[in-house]
Amino acid sequence: MKITKLLSESAAGCAFVPTMGALHAGHQSLIAKARELSDEVVVSVFVNPLQFEDKSDLAKYPKTPEQDALLAQAAGATTLWTPDYETIYPTETKKLSAGELGSKFEGVHRLGHFDGVLTVVNRLFEMVKPRYAIFGEKDFQQLFLISKMAAELHPEIQIIAAPTVREPNGLAMSSRNVRLNAEARNAAEVISKVLFNAAKAESISQARLELAKVKNEIQFELDYAEIIDEDNFELATEETTKPRAVIAGWIDGVRLIDNMALQPALVRI
Ligand code: PAF
Repeated sequence: MKITKLLSESAAGCAFVPTMGALHAGHQSLIAKARELSDEVVVSVFVNPLQFEDKSDLAKYPKTPEQDALLAQAAGATTLWTPDYETIYPTETKKLSAGELGSKFEGVHRLGHFDGVLTVVNRLFEMVKPRYAIFGEKDFQQLFLISKMAAELHPEIQIIAAPTVREPNGLAMSSRNVRLNAEARNAAEVISKVLFNAAKAESISQARLELAKVKNEIQFELDYAEIIDEDNFELATEETTKPRAVIAGWIDGVRLIDNMALQPALVRI
């Protein structure tokens, strides 16, 4: 595997996995998926300041460059690209807006976050020119907004969604999990527990009740827990064909998000 700050033209047409580093098994599953699609797999590591509205969160973001190289290579990456800020953001960079959906759910709690995500992903796409780009379903609103942006600005790139990878206790893998101590990690089990229960519910209203049980967990400070229509992020009704539970909140100063599609039994044809 090549590790480089400057990408060569030959990356064009590759399968691409954009990351902010602190790689874990979830990222490795995206890289493995990319490798199924192409012999040339570029993984970028760039911690994008534009998507951190809270600068202390940016400062605390874990950095594990040696481990990133080992994990990326083991999963099948052929190039690990670690660009500098100036490479990604030359003066006059076009800033993108995530529009109305950018200020719902995650956007309510992270002002401007999705504008920063779309701006960097657009720049990365312009530079890498991939054939495929792989994103995890764990950040479902991000996946939705990137898919929409790519359809408009980069129709030649196929966006591939990869399923969430979970720790043995059900907790969705995230670079932030390393900041949870053992007690917080145990408490965090409640997030996937309510999601799995909501996913098994017989109706949207029952799913909402299951999800609301998260409020009983005193260690979890809830930002939102809702059932949405995954085609447009509007609140789901009993008629919604693709309902998905989305949840976010804080445990011991660490912000965690997760989501899950509701079971087919709920889906009206
Ligand atoms: O999901 C992430 O790690 C980041 O938001 C992304 C897509 C790499 C953009 O910085």
